[in-house]
Amino acid sequence: MPAQLTSEPTVQDQFRRDVLDGLRAKPKHLPSKYFYDRQGSVLFDRICELPEYYPTRAELAIMRQHAEEMAHCIGSHGMIIELGSGSSIKIGLLLRHVPRPTCYVPIDISGEHLQEAADRIARKFTDVEVCPLHADFSGEIKLPEVVTSVERRVVYFPGSTIGNFRPAAARDLLTRIATMVGPGGGLLIGFDLVKRRDILERAYDDAQQVTAAFNKNLLRRINRELDGDFRLAEFSHRAIYNATHDRIEMHLVSDSNQTVSIGDAQVGFSSGESICTELSHKYRIESFNQLAAQAGFSVGRVWTDSDNHFAVAYYSIEE
Ligand code: TRP
Repeated sequence: MPAQLTSEPTVQDQFRRDVLDGLRAKPKHLPSKYFYDRQGSVLFDRICELPEYYPTRAELAIMRQHAEEMAHCIGSHGMIIELGSGSSIKIGLLLRHVPRPTCYVPIDISGEHLQEAADRIARKFTDVEVCPLHADFSGEIKLPEVVTSVERRVVYFPGSTIGNFRPAAARDLLTRIATMVGPGGGLLIGFDLVKRRDILERAYDDAQQVTAAFNKNLLRRINRELDGDFRLAEFSHRAIYNATHDRIEMHLVSDSNQTVSIGDAQVGFSSGESICTELSHKYRIESFNQLAAQAGFSVGRVWTDSDNHFAVAYYSIEE
């Protein structure tokens, strides 16, 4: 399709610019949204099933137990907009209970993954209008035209993806969500809770090294799409809990002094120098409520799992 061909170079140019900017900065970093190419999306689904990665299981348990109450908060005649829908597993638990009519707008940066998941939801819930949107939700979002008459917009933002933003950026994103749903709208959001360091670090550095492979896949993607020559064996995966900022920091550490080419550009690494690839902030319920309040939301309900590992909360904007 012509539209796709003309838009392709811009996406690639942006990827290249972001990579070079990040690798020339001190300390080096790379934007985590580029993790999710096809291979990255498959690896991420495997992370969610790891014995050490508790967030997905804890969030699913919360959804299974409280989906009916959550659906009641959303009500009928709603548009549910899911940010970073991935494989759209959790939404199924919710849609079972949401009163009709309703429509579902999954938004994801991984196009192929998105279409497959949207088709599966549409087949399973034939009376739900499904309108997938292939977009980067950290940018401008233009909601699709829908047939269903919508009385309320609710953003569903599971997976503690909000934790991958620095607090100021998280507040900005929540503020944009508040504007998007408008008065009477809502936000159903999952966030990870502060807990013991060993549990946290294992969740991001598993024994089977799936997370390590996921992290390194970013370098593989740069090699493939930007003509890079990263040697994956020369970098190590590290996940460290920073208790001052209540966050896991994910790094790729250079094992030697080396120079890497990316197209015509060159980037030098000293031995032990790291690229920060992801931050995953952990919250206390009160501090997250405050963040949501600063964005204009009032607290509706907060649900947690039996271990108090994870929380899902419903916030709303007053009419
Ligand atoms: N939102 C997830 C989290 O912060 C994303 C995630 C899990 C992740 N494991 C990862 C991102 C490893 C990068 C690398 O928990």
